[in-house]
Amino acid sequence: MFQIALDGPSGAGKSTLAKNLASYLQYVYVDTGALYRSIGLFVRRKDVDPSDPEAVAALLPEIRLELTYQDGAQHVLLCGEDVSGLIRTPEISMYASKVSAIPAVRAFLLSTQKEIAEKNNVIMDGRDIGTVILPNADVKIFLVCSPEAKARRRYAELVEKGVETTYEEVLAAMIERDRADSTRAAAPLIKAADAIELNNSEMEPEETFAAALNIIKERLS
Ligand code: DC
Repeated sequence: MFQIALDGPSGAGKSTLAKNLASYLQYVYVDTGALYRSIGLFVRRKDVDPSDPEAVAALLPEIRLELTYQDGAQHVLLCGEDVSGLIRTPEISMYASKVSAIPAVRAFLLSTQKEIAEKNNVIMDGRDIGTVILPNADVKIFLVCSPEAKARRRYAELVEKGVETTYEEVLAAMIERDRADSTRAAAPLIKAADAIELNNSEMEPEETFAAALNIIKERLS
């Protein structure tokens, strides 16, 4: 089985890149953020504080997560319920971010992620895929982007959705989220020693795709 690990901070375009590569290479795309989001949703529904490690850990035995694929798109089943459409809200993003800092949650998701990669050729995106989940991945890419470029893209998306905000506000939020992700005690975002860094600040999505494909072809040849 071939394993491609794609890590990097929020907003660098990992999921778009991973989806495109998976469809081109006919690999299974595993969006690991969706697993943390589903735990976030479960915790929210139980009205438990997502920052309380003991309370969250106590819920884990009740949680059953499965990934299924329909028309190439990943769906997450939380105790049998397809929650894919419910985990993308800003509230659940916040819950996911908090529960993902709890070591028991990361340990709980470790085997789920490893098992998928044992059975399929995968491209897995996340924060600790190349360092913790698949340390022996065939290819590791660390996708980065300047906060300014991420904020520009995000701002354009928000304006298109009709959200009232300013570029400065979006930039400040982006810088704060990157800081929190790279300094948290459990699994801070770290580039694997053997990962290849791809900076797409000045790239369009199709250029990012071409650059990543080159890295993969070189590594696999
Ligand atoms: O990639 P995303 O925004 O869907 O991730 C949701 C949250 O989960 C985000 O706060 C980072 C965290 N996460 C993580 O800690 N480790 C992963 N492998 C994937 C996501």
